[in-house]
This record gives sequence, structure tokens and C-alpha cells, in this order.
Amino acid sequence: MVKKKTCVFISGNGSNLKNLIYSSRNNNFPISIELVICNNKKAKGIIYAKKNSIPFLILNTKMRNFERIALKELKKYKIELICLAGFMRIISKEFINKFKRKIINIHPSLLPKYKGLNTFERILKDKEKKTGCTVHFVNENLDGGRVILQKSFLIKKSDNILSLKQKTQNLEYKAFPEAIVKIFRYN
Ligand code: GAR
Repeated sequence: MVKKKTCVFISGNGSNLKNLIYSSRNNNFPISIELVICNNKKAKGIIYAKKNSIPFLILNTKMRNFERIALKELKKYKIELICLAGFMRIISKEFINKFKRKIINIHPSLLPKYKGLNTFERILKDKEKKTGCTVHFVNENLDGGRVILQKSFLIKKSDNILSLKQKTQNLEYKAFPEAIVKIFRYN
């Protein structure tokens, strides 16, 4: 199998990056992670790129030329898929158009519910009965692109922000690899 060359964008802990690296070791998994781009020099997740000898780039998203530099690197590594794994910056329409249907994101809610930030706080406040995670294509609308896959669980009375986050992330570790397999199934 010729694996699709993939870049993972992160901003923080990188537990989804770690999980995708693990999945990509399987010969039947459709992607190989060739590059990691991070917009936070203190992000813990960079350690997973280092440990696995994956080239990484730390770029300051506050800089105007962030996307230009990122695009140059993506071209250099012949990247065919971008996975946003806890990347907490909005990407411009121009950038998205250059990678149309080739950028996917994982979000900690059952979209279209709870787009944006502070999802767990809002879910608890609204006394939702269930929640979960969504993997979706990225378009120019925040958390708005076509859904690839969702996974859900029932919320217990005893749940709090931390437990919801842990349960959601445990589902994310299944959802992200499954979504990637799904989009390349017929290719
Ligand atoms: C994940 O839970 C992901 O769903 C969320 O950030 C976390 C990153 O965790 N993404 C968003 O909230 C995007 N709007 P990680 O760095 O440990 O993978």
C-alpha cells in the first residue's frame, strides 16, 4: 500500500498525534506521518515527533507569514493530507482552498452541536444526555465541514469537565484512525 503523506498540526498535549503515530505503524493503515507543525513552542506534543524522528516545525501563528511558510514545508514534504489534532488556530480560507478536502479535524463534541471552545463546560451547563467527538473535513466555516465519523457516550450525573474530557479523548483515539481508514477506503 502506498501511504498518503500526512502532516499533523498540533498546539498542545499531542495525545491524538501520539495515537496517530501508533496507528500509522500498521502496514495497512493508509497514512504515514511525515511532518508535524506546531504553533506553540511549549507544546508537550512535540516530544512525540522527536521520539519518533518525525520532522517538526514550530511556527508562530501570530506571524503574518505563518501560512506561507507552512505551505512551503507541506510542498517540500509532498503532503497529501493534513490532520488537525488539537490545533487551536483558525486557518484562512485561502489555505483551506489550497488543500480542499484534504484537511480533517477532530472536535470534542457531536457537531453541529458545540462548535468552538469550552465544549465540556457548555455541555454540562445545558444538561446534555450524551456527547462525544466528531472527525470532519475542514471548510471555511468554523467546525463546519462535512462529518466523516462521530462517536458518542451517555453522560452520567457524576460527570464533570475532567471526566467528560477523558471519556471524549478515549473515543477520539478510536475515531481519528477510523475516520482516516474510512476516507481512503475506496481509493
Ligand atoms: C482534543 O480533545 C481535540 O478534540 C481538541 O483538542 C484536544 C487536543 O488534545 N480540539 C479542539 O478543541 C479543536 N477545536 P491532544 O493535544 O492531546 O491531542
